[in-house]
Formats: sequence, C-alpha cells, structure tokens
Amino acid sequence: MPASRRGSGSFTLTTGQTIAIHTRTQDEEDLPHATKKTMADHLRKYESLFTLTPQRMRMIVEAFTETLELGLNKPNQIVPMIPTYVFGWPTGQEKGDFLALDLGGTNLRVCLVTLQGEGKFEISQTKYRLSEEQKQDDGQKLFDFCAECLHTFVETNTGEGAGQLKPGQSLPLGFTFSYPCSQERIDHGELIRWTKGFGAGNTEGRDVAEMFKKSLEKYQLPIKLTALINDTTGTLIASHYVNPKTKIAVIFGTGCNAAYMERVKDIAKIEHLGIDHGAEMAINCEWGAFDSFEHEHLPRTKYDTIVDDTSNKPGEQAFEKLISGRYLGEILRLVLCELIDEGVLFLGQNTYKLEKPYCFDTAFLSLMESDPTDELLMVIGIFTHFFALETTLAERQFFRALAKLIGRRAARLSSCGIAAIVNKMGYLEEGCSVGADGSLYNKYPGFADRVHEGLQDIFGDKGRNIVTHHAEDGSGVGSAIIAAMTKHRKDAGLYLNV
Ligand code: BGC
Repeated sequence: MPASRRGSGSFTLTTGQTIAIHTRTQDEEDLPHATKKTMADHLRKYESLFTLTPQRMRMIVEAFTETLELGLNKPNQIVPMIPTYVFGWPTGQEKGDFLALDLGGTNLRVCLVTLQGEGKFEISQTKYRLSEEQKQDDGQKLFDFCAECLHTFVETNTGEGAGQLKPGQSLPLGFTFSYPCSQERIDHGELIRWTKGFGAGNTEGRDVAEMFKKSLEKYQLPIKLTALINDTTGTLIASHYVNPKTKIAVIFGTGCNAAYMERVKDIAKIEHLGIDHGAEMAINCEWGAFDSFEHEHLPRTKYDTIVDDTSNKPGEQAFEKLISGRYLGEILRLVLCELIDEGVLFLGQNTYKLEKPYCFDTAFLSLMESDPTDELLMVIGIFTHFFALETTLAERQFFRALAKLIGRRAARLSSCGIAAIVNKMGYLEEGCSVGADGSLYNKYPGFADRVHEGLQDIFGDKGRNIVTHHAEDGSGVGSAIIAAMTKHRKDAGLYLNV
C-alpha cells in the first residue's frame, strides 16, 4: 500500500499537462502534522483561556448587579435599563386581532395574532429575508421595506377576501424593534445605537416609531402603530401570558438581552414623572452593553478583542460579543486561523475559504457538539463541504472540544446576567421562571443545562430555584398582547397620563 498522504495539489508535466492530485488521509498516525497529543496540548491552552471559574462568575455577578442599579438610577448609562411603559402583567383575558411586525437580527416577520383570552391565541405569519445591503442602507428605506412587506401581508391575510378587516377599520400593530431605544412613551423610541451588525444610516438618535409611521403613511395602510417594543419585553409578557410564574425574559440569539418587571418606585430616574409608586413597569435592560468600552469585568481573550476591533461597532456590546450567536462562530474561526498561522492545522491544504471573516456559522458549533458518531462524520462534512478541508480525527476532536469551550463560556456568562437580575430583585429564595428564546437557547445542544449549571455555581444549591424554559414567541404574540394591553389603557384614558 502506498504511504498515506493528505491534502491536494497539482504539478505540471514536461508536456505542459497539469495533473491534479487529491488524496485522502489513510493513516492518521503517520501524518506530518498535529498528532493527537499536540492537539491535546493546544486544547489545554484554550481551556484555561475560555473557562470561567465559579469565583470569577460571582465577581462578574457583583459588578453586573451594581451596573443594573446604576442604569435604573441615572439616565444615559452604558447599560441603559430602559423603562418600556409596559405596565404590569397581562390578565390573560386580552382578546382581538393584532398585527405584529418583528425586525430582529436576521429576518423581518409579519404576524397576524388573534388573542382568544385565557392565555390562548392563534397566529399566522410570513417571513421576509433582509439583505446585508438593507441593513446598512438608509434607515427610512429599511422602514419603507417593512411597510411594503406589511402591505403585502395585509392584502393577503386581512383583505375583505379573507373576511377579517372591514372597510374603514384599522388594525393595531405592535412593532418589535429589537435594538436599544430610549422611550418616553410606548409608541416612541429613539434608537440609541444599532447592534447585531446593523448600520442603516440616518437612524441612530432618531425616533424610529416616527420614521416607521411615515413609511406606513406612504403605503396608506389600515394600520395603527400602537406599541414599539423590544423582543425581550415581548417575551416577558408572552411567557407570563401562558406561564404566570415568569418574572424574567432573556434572548440568546443573534443578539442577547433581558427584560424583567420592576417596581416603579425603584426606577429613580423616572421619579419626576410622578407615576404611581405601586405600579410595575417592564424594564428592557439592554444588558448586551455590559462592560462596553471600559472592559473591566469580563474575561476577554485576544480572539474576543479581534472580534470587537473588527466589528462595525468597536467597544460596544461587550457582553453580547462573548455570548450571542452572531459572534461565537467567528471566535472559533479566529482560533483556527491562529493555529493555521502557527502551522498546526491543515498543513499543505488551501485554507482560503476558512480565512473569510464570519464564514464559520455558529450553527456549525451546534452541529459539531451534537455529532453522535465516533468518527465525527458531521465535523468531516462541515469542513469538506463548506471549506474544502480534510481533517484528522484528532483535529476533529479538538474542534469539537473548542466549540464546547466557547459555547459553555457563553452559557455561563448568560447565567451571570440572569443571576444579577435575580440578585437585584431578591428572587433567589422564592425562585422564579425565566422565559428564554433565541437560536442559541433553542438550538445549541446543552445551552440551557449549562446556564442552569452556571446558576448553581453562582448561588450553590439555591441556584436550582431559578429555572429557564422555552418562551412563547415574544416578538409576535408578545407584541400583540402588549398592543392589546396598550389599547386597553388608551381606551381607559390612561395613555400618556402614565
Ligand atoms: C439588542 C436588543 C435585543 C437583543 C436580542 C441586542 O443586540 O440590542 O435590543 O433585545 O439583541 O435580540
């Protein structure tokens, strides 16, 4: 049998003919590159970089809790703790047809939600893909596109043909706009900054509700913007609608954030509004911004620093950049690139496909971690299919272990955020339910278990009192419920008198 070799290449014969060779690895033991032992050595280095000890987590929680307090006490803080003007919990009896428009990180979604009371609902929806250009183009154009999609949706789903909307009637709309917006009323929101790679011009610092209303007017839609909400606030309300034990909502998706219900008397920065101290209001924490700019508390590796420096918003969303689905694949890719540069990985192969920023999707980490085969066939598939790279078993085991380190760190940092809210609200003894949503939470194997394990590392056995569960669709159903709650307040003459 010929000596095994790997990789591909070509050579030219004297006749001018080019011969391409492409051979597979037969026997990994003889390879001139990384052996299992050296990969294990490399792994040890990354283990120490990406592992969070319980002690370190408790320190993060302490700083996080102080940051939450600061955001409630003073305006314009880095973690802005945004009052949402969503007052208290839904009764579960909210009823009627509502539209919800969801501008998240990846798609645009339009939903028609029929609330049936008793925590029940029906939903029909359509998703529209957002292009990278749209995310960077002019903001008004982006909202025009939203209105255009709504127009198509309303024509198809609520026209007279569909028997839902009578002439002259308009539908209340909840607009889930999942970016930090400071609000003065529920149908107002000044965009503080874009996150998740968005950068549409002429939008930061402006009232996006107003911009969106302009677009609605252009299309003369029978729609009334009733509430502008964040996906976490929607998730909080939707989860409580079906599970009244819910007190906190978190999103671990393209971005990451949390919302919870706060006592109005404890939101010092809106004291001057004179809102009834007995009332409660949902707070959109925008915790993705924790430790931004100063970078004092979070354990950032050099890969995290590169992710940050090369992002469209350096310095910002420091917590989110260690956790959310938008960045985890990129962090792993940067480690691989380092090992390529050091001559450890993929010797003799062309690695250009892997060298493209953001080409390594976070879904690959999920797939690698859940590969059930001894040979790690899924990992083989990812590297050959997407990057035209051959891998040895030792390398594949290393990749999987690395994914685990990065995924686990994200989950444990997420526990730190949840623990800070639990601390702030004193929920540890009585326990609480945390409604959670987002691709990472829903699809990354073991993410929820790791969050729970992290909570126990922080709080000891009592950490078991804090339980996350898959939330109801906050951006659709939650948005509709909030629109219903707002309409109810308006009908009762409570709007703006807050
Ligand atoms: C945004 C939040 C949002 C979160 C989850 C973050 O980037 O700033 O507003 O809730 O992503 O979608």
